[in-house]
Amino acid sequence: MTRRALLIGIGPGGPDQLTVEAVRALNEVDVFLVADKEAEAGRAGTGDLVALREEICRRHITGDGYRIVAVPDPPRDRAPKTDRAYGDEVRDWHAARARAYARVLLEQTGPDDTVGFLVWGDPSLYDSTIRVVERVRETGEVDLDYRVVPGVSSVQALAARYRLVLNRIGSPVTVTTGRRLATDVASGADNLVVMLDGNLACADLPGDAWDIWWGANLGTDGEELVAGPLGEVVDTVRAARARVRASRGWVMDIYLLRRRSPT
Ligand SMILES: C[S@@+](CC[C@H](N)C(=O)[O-])C[C@H]1O[C@@H](n2cnc3c(N)ncnc32)[C@H](O)[C@@H]1O
Repeated sequence: MTRRALLIGIGPGGPDQLTVEAVRALNEVDVFLVADKEAEAGRAGTGDLVALREEICRRHITGDGYRIVAVPDPPRDRAPKTDRAYGDEVRDWHAARARAYARVLLEQTGPDDTVGFLVWGDPSLYDSTIRVVERVRETGEVDLDYRVVPGVSSVQALAARYRLVLNRIGSPVTVTTGRRLATDVASGADNLVVMLDGNLACADLPGDAWDIWWGANLGTDGEELVAGPLGEVVDTVRAARARVRASRGWVMDIYLLRRRSPT
């Protein structure tokens, strides 16, 4: 019998940043599988993220006819490496995650259960859930069909906070990572949204040529915002980032970086 799964975009942390479709989908779920990243050494504080997801369930699900099962996340080597080694390592990690999910699906859910995956932000952007669920299907161990419910991405949350249109008129916006920033800028990108940047890669760019709109833990109690000419505010961003991490135990930040037009 085919198990049914719903991959539900739950927005970037704010319990009100879910769509009506997402709330309806949440109410169809019998068992939520939630990756428990705290199982990974050195990732303390991410228990707060599990708590945020639980709060979203409490607030939006009518009744208590659902279970939450934490799936320990396989360990991952996060040391800097070449792009190819990084790609291989992420693929191996997806395979290990798929095995962990397949095991939990078989051992802790029934064939009639609707299984839910709470996906941070939107499932289409820098998230492995779709790939991992595809890999679970490839294992052939679990017969699984699934639907994707879109969510508000942190990209949209950032734009809304600053009342920004991300693209300049008729021009593109590059969505990239801290790891790729230098390469993308060298290739000519001049209007970029940067995610997954634990090292504030923008600090290496000429501070007088760029403006930044930065936000951390958007939509949550610990939200912080800093914007201005890069060179003038980069230290403030660094301090705000450290402050968020110290108070919440975790920090997720994103920024728009735009090269100044010549005056
Ligand atoms: C693994 S990606 C997930 C992105 C997610 N699927 C989305 O649509 O926003 C995690 C990155 O998203 C960004 N992010 C997610 N939630 C955020 C938030 N509440 N505030 C700021 N940035 C956030 C950060 O750049 C973080 O490093």
